[in-house]
Amino acid sequence: KNENLALPVGITLDRFIMRNQEAFQFASGELSQLLRDIALASKILNREINRAGLADVTGLLGSQNVQGEAQQKLDVIADIRFLRALKNGGEVCAIISEEEPEIILTGNNHAKYVVAIDPLDGSSNIDSNVSIGTIFSIFRRKTPIGSVPSLKDCIQRGDEQVAAGYILYGSSTILVYTTGKGVNGFTYDNSLGEYFLSHPQMQVNQEGTIFSCNEGNFYDFPECIQEYLTECKQKRYSGRYIGSLVGDFHRNLLKGGVYLYPPTRHNLDGKLRLLYECLPLAFIIEQAGGKASDGKQRILEIQPQNLHQRSPLYIGSSSMVEAIEECCKEMD
Ligand code: AHG
Ligand code: MN
Ligand code: MN
Ligand code: MN
Repeated sequence: KNENLALPVGITLDRFIMRNQEAFQFASGELSQLLRDIALASKILNREINRAGLADVTGLLGSQNVQGEAQQKLDVIADIRFLRALKNGGEVCAIISEEEPEIILTGNNHAKYVVAIDPLDGSSNIDSNVSIGTIFSIFRRKTPIGSVPSLKDCIQRGDEQVAAGYILYGSSTILVYTTGKGVNGFTYDNSLGEYFLSHPQMQVNQEGTIFSCNEGNFYDFPECIQEYLTECKQKRYSGRYIGSLVGDFHRNLLKGGVYLYPPTRHNLDGKLRLLYECLPLAFIIEQAGGKASDGKQRILEIQPQNLHQRSPLYIGSSSMVEAIEECCKEMD
């Protein structure tokens, strides 16, 4: 008899969040509730993603977002799902989203948290049934409780994050998050409708042998990055690139490696959005013992200037990110 087949064992996400809350005697439970709201929205979206091919929700919507990208139907569905859950949950006073040009006021002016979200990451992979994700980041508001929140609440440095996480809708669905005390991953059991702790205290290897970038842009990358990539190939490292940041990040977190989205000739700040993509993943990787840099400085130390600003990103195993920073310095 195989003991491992005994089902289900383990700690649910709800229980894990509650236990952590008890560990901080003064916690009011609002952050816990907010994390649960996000988990619930992700379950709803997960259901929609699983049925996408049947429910006519693949393909383009025919509109453009503030980033100048063609919106996919699922981009907008995901945006609506998360905004609704966050508004109804009541713990959030303002939301910023990759899909929304301006800050969204929830009307809950007594709430103390602000959320930044990339509701659906990896849009270009939806139609081909490849992994996609959601990325979120939680800040404490700066303006007084009870007042109408402002941009100041939403444009904060990454090292002010209270929590950050992502959901990867992959071969299985997994939710990974941190509140600044390590990183934990929870795998979704479809039949039970619950997330279970499957990856406790995740740590990334200091060294790695995977590099992930869109090599189609190679000749538009800065020379230092071209050289770094050439070195990776001389060492026979593996090139792995899904084209969904969450998927690429998650694999490298588990296996060791580096993800690169460098500046290109036409996009001097690269493509990725600082607030919705870079900051949350930078918080997570540092909590897992890795590093995140824009080539010059720690991502978490950048002072953002506007909602939709972009940043180059080098993230993953610490020795690989350090090597890239060294290359960039030499070329300066
Ligand atoms: P999004 O789908 O949220 O707009 O993000 C797309 C991002 C990221 O997921 C991915 O790593 C990157 O764009 C891929 O860009 P390229 O197609 O330029 O490689
Ligand atoms: Mn997009
Ligand atoms: Mn994205
Ligand atoms: Mn997106």
